[in-house]
Amino acid sequence: MNALRRDPLATYLRARRDHGDVVRFSVGPPGLRQEIFAVFSAEGAQQLLARSVGFRKEDSFYDEIRNLFGNGLLTSQDDDYVRQRRLIQPLFTRRKVNLYADTMCEEVLRMLAQWKDPDHSTIDIAHEMTRLTQRITMRVLFGGASKEAGEVVDRCFPVLGAYMLRRAFAPLSIPRNWPTPANRRATAARRELYDVCDRIIRERAALGSDNDLLGLLLEADDSTGDRLSSEEVRDQVLVFFLAGHETTATATKFALHLLARTPDVQARARDEIDRVLGSRTPGVEDFDRLEYVQMVLKEAMRLYPSAPGITRRSTADIEIAGHLIPAGATVFLSPWVTHRHPAYWKDPEVFAPERFAPGEEADRPRYAWFPFGGGPRACIGQYFGMLESVLAVSAILQKYELEAVDTEVRLVQKMLLQTEGPIRCRVIPR
Ligand code: HEM
Repeated sequence: MNALRRDPLATYLRARRDHGDVVRFSVGPPGLRQEIFAVFSAEGAQQLLARSVGFRKEDSFYDEIRNLFGNGLLTSQDDDYVRQRRLIQPLFTRRKVNLYADTMCEEVLRMLAQWKDPDHSTIDIAHEMTRLTQRITMRVLFGGASKEAGEVVDRCFPVLGAYMLRRAFAPLSIPRNWPTPANRRATAARRELYDVCDRIIRERAALGSDNDLLGLLLEADDSTGDRLSSEEVRDQVLVFFLAGHETTATATKFALHLLARTPDVQARARDEIDRVLGSRTPGVEDFDRLEYVQMVLKEAMRLYPSAPGITRRSTADIEIAGHLIPAGATVFLSPWVTHRHPAYWKDPEVFAPERFAPGEEADRPRYAWFPFGGGPRACIGQYFGMLESVLAVSAILQKYELEAVDTEVRLVQKMLLQTEGPIRCRVIPR
């Protein structure tokens, strides 16, 4: 328990090295002890994620997310889930997501315009990417109402995130309805967040649709005329924000950090960007041709997966690599460890985008790389996140050379992989 609390990322790596691909952790004080089964192999991850029965999102993390952010696509299950995915999937086709590319690029250019200021010759990439993805997500979700929602989100999400983590990690949690200061703070933050979303949704429903994601959610229907209720729309909005913004920020900031530390890779990416774009602003039509930039992002997500762990509860006994995982256990998959597994990756700590060159991926098991999860519950925003990151990295490298100031980054595993302190980088206009 102490090792997991102190440094979960190192503890999981050590567990695989010392004990193999399936490891049982026994954590918590006597009497409250919990068993967690960690599965580190690509084959094990596939066995767990690719199936639609036998595993549920009912572990302590998902219970806390559900309580605070509702029953949206990330947390819902069974018939609710099938129905939501059926209604929402059409909003995330490549054609639909491409409609957001202009908003993504406008926000990147807005950020770059501020870097022109001489005070911005050294920037904190971590901060800049978090703000950028936040602004993009708010505009894509809420269109014109993004400023109002953004202020509330800025205030409430950190309170709710910290509360959720504390409870998810605690061996024993105080009931949520006890009037403790922490419970009261979280209830007030949740109320404020729900109120602003509900108000925007009400106004939008009365005024008619807009082209933002909220408008599309309100209009989404299937051939039977089924629609999401306003409450369900609110839950989706919250979940998209929760699942879509910090994840993309993490991918982009690590890609930039690794490029800043690796000048030859940066030069190769820049050559491609110059060849594909010339002096033109990047747009959606360039995505497929920015192949090397895509490889850089995939490799950054291998080394620094935004979701370093994925949890479930088993509902039936299952055997993985000769080990029995009993029904009712908490199961833990770790992109962080599998992405460094020596069976699939040579020199796993080295940043080498060539691992993702065309043809290279065919030799690896399908789940050796799974930053977006997999199977029926795979990330619905995979293309959205990739498009946003590729456009952002390309627009930045087109204008600036990057030089790392902070060469080491302190990592912390919260719900997502996060960094402590700034990631400073010198930006030199080209
Ligand atoms: C680089 C960016 C992203 C990464 C690394 C990422 C990662 C993930 C992962 C690992 C899962 C699976 C969780 C599990 O199985 O327990 C997931 C699910 C999900 N993600 Fe993403 N995500 C990204 C971007 C986005 C974006 C941009 C959105 C929405 C706008 C989004 C919305 C969702 C939703 C709704 C789910 C639940 C899907 C379902 O269960 O059907 N994600 N994401």
